[in-house]
Amino acid sequence: LQCWLVLILLYDHVSLAVVADTDVSCIFMETCMLPCSSEGGTVSAGDITVHSFYHNKDQLERQNQRFRGRTSLFNDQISAGNASLQLTKVEVQDEGRYKCYTSTIDGNKESFINLKIDGKSSVLSLFLLIILILLFL
Ligand SMILES: *[C@@H]1O[C@H](CO)[C@@H](O)[C@H](O)[C@H]1NC(C)=O
Repeated sequence: LQCWLVLILLYDHVSLAVVADTDVSCIFMETCMLPCSSEGGTVSAGDITVHSFYHNKDQLERQNQRFRGRTSLFNDQISAGNASLQLTKVEVQDEGRYKCYTSTIDGNKESFINLKIDGKSSVLSLFLLIILILLFL
């Protein structure tokens, strides 16, 4: 099973309420894996390119700035149909709906992943606490 193309896109300005194939929770500032399976999905256009791979290598010319240097695929796994994306230093803004598009000799497949970031509320409350302390000093 040769994988010709892997494309991972992020839908900006789309609410998390949209139904996805998979829900993933990641911890703020840690490394996160977006499972790129090859089951089902519907067709629509993503607007932010997170990662793309074709001609047997990463093609990052159109990658969005926000994801620069933070994404990788497991290149040795792609031929086995595993196109999971590793995302490092997860940010609060990474939260959203991702589309994984793969194209193989057997056809094209899409799947959707909802990414949620955990731990941001504790970061925010720590930040507010520091501000409060500074105000009362
Ligand atoms: C894909 O490969 C990665 C790295 O080897 C592994 O951690 C992950 O579990 C694999 N995912 C699937 C769906 O096989």
